[in-house]
Amino acid sequence: MKITAFSAHKYEHKYLEEAIPEHELKLFEMRLTVDSVDLASGSDVVAIFVTDDGSRPVLERLKKMGIQLLALRSAGFNHVDLQAAQELGIKVARVPEYSPAAIAEHTVALMLALNRKLVKAHNRVRDLNFSLDGLVGFDMDGKTVGVAGTGKIGSKVAKILSGFGCRLLAYDPYENEDLKKAVDITYVDFKTLCAQSDIITLHLPLSKDSQYMINKDSLQEMKHGTMLVNTSRGALVNTREVNEALKSGQIGSFGMDVYEEEEALFFEDHSEDILQDDVIARLLTFQNVMITSHQAFLTNEALTKIATVTAYNINCWEKKQSSPNELKPG
Ligand code: NAI
Repeated sequence: MKITAFSAHKYEHKYLEEAIPEHELKLFEMRLTVDSVDLASGSDVVAIFVTDDGSRPVLERLKKMGIQLLALRSAGFNHVDLQAAQELGIKVARVPEYSPAAIAEHTVALMLALNRKLVKAHNRVRDLNFSLDGLVGFDMDGKTVGVAGTGKIGSKVAKILSGFGCRLLAYDPYENEDLKKAVDITYVDFKTLCAQSDIITLHLPLSKDSQYMINKDSLQEMKHGTMLVNTSRGALVNTREVNEALKSGQIGSFGMDVYEEEEALFFEDHSEDILQDDVIARLLTFQNVMITSHQAFLTNEALTKIATVTAYNINCWEKKQSSPNELKPG
């Protein structure tokens, strides 16, 4: 069997090769798009990542080539038109959970690095500037953190922050009973979470309801100087409006691992290019913004799980067994 993996970067090769030794595996760094789709020609299975394009036109081309399974190397699936896949008879399976701890720990790393201005401090010391002026942070102990989305990742974040002595608020239509038993956390509506939190962290999926939930209105509801962290999906946040809130000081600091226009930038080396994206260009001018390039998942444990579950999904399909990780529309 032949498998083509798109957006397969160097860091992932050994994990995929070890997990899928028995099949012919073609690994392309290139994203799956209408322009690159022909690279999958002759394959049975296509394995894609979150930056790949799983829209109807791409799926139609894959179908014509005889692709029968789209194996997502991700938990998120908002980049795939599941309705189109079903109509075309292409099965879609994902990796529902690979390491909530990896994303949660990166989220907290962003909070701590922003709060204690670690990048600035490190760069200063390398310049032999040992001054502490401008590096004042705050105690996490006693601060109120609003966790939007208390599923696998959000609940991990809440547990870590509980250890720091934070007061925890949560916003989620479904209260996580296990989390409520483990830590002291109060479910509130989104407006209250915005109004009372010193730090707001996003851990809910992108949907029509959640798109741009962070916008000029919700930003205005927040305390002046709130820290905002988004390691979930870029379009939860209206980045232009966050830029304005950073300019006015309404947002005190912003950590982001995901960006609404990340497909054009993230995962690639653009160091030789002229940056065309004015929104991220403005973000990069703020000292109190920390951006990572969708790397929250990037741990040894997560990459191992992504590769082994992808292999499992492929094997299920090959043996004509259904995988519990298959996705259906709706
Ligand atoms: P999960 O499905 O376990 O939890 C999501 C939670 O969000 C659920 O409790 C759900 O009830 C809640 N929710 C759904 N819609 C909501 C809404 N409109 N308002 C409030 N809450 C809502 O998902 P998990 O595994 O915790 O992942 C969370 C998100 O993290 C994913 O959707 C994905 O976008 C992102 N992610 C980011 C990664 C990264 O590397 N930066 C890697 C993996 C996931």
